[in-house]
Amino acid sequence: MDGEEQIAGIAQCWTSAYIKDLAVASEWRRRGLGEALLLHAFECFRQRGAPHVELKVEIDNPSGALRLYQRMGMEALV
Ligand SMILES: CC(C)(COP(=O)(O)OP(=O)(O)OC[C@H]1O[C@@H](n2cnc3c(N)ncnc32)[C@H](O)[C@@H]1OP(=O)(O)O)[C@@H](O)C(=O)NCCC(=O)NCCS
Repeated sequence: MDGEEQIAGIAQCWTSAYIKDLAVASEWRRRGLGEALLLHAFECFRQRGAPHVELKVEIDNPSGALRLYQRMGMEALV
């Protein structure tokens, strides 16, 4: 949440170690929030004993999501 109780970013996950939606409000992007949300989700799933985390992303996602996921160590299963 931002200082005005608006949502700045969200990682909506399924219990099965699947990240359903990752989104950061446009005015909050490119400050590390996406990375922080991913790290938090990874840690939650790690504590539950998940061997890996999955998500789906369009290969040409215009906001650079694929680059973020790869930087965070995720691998493409095409
Ligand atoms: C994808 C998305 C979640 C990334 O969120 P974000 O908060 O901008 O992510 P980060 O800030 O962690 O990283 C984004 C970029 O900002 C850069 N960055 C992070 N902190 C920075 C800072 N303080 N100064 C400058 N750049 C910074 C990162 O290095 C990264 O650069 P890159 O694109 O060249 O790799 C966001 O763009 C979004 O909501 N997109 C629309 C929804 C979407 O497509 N979601 C994915 C669907 S699967």
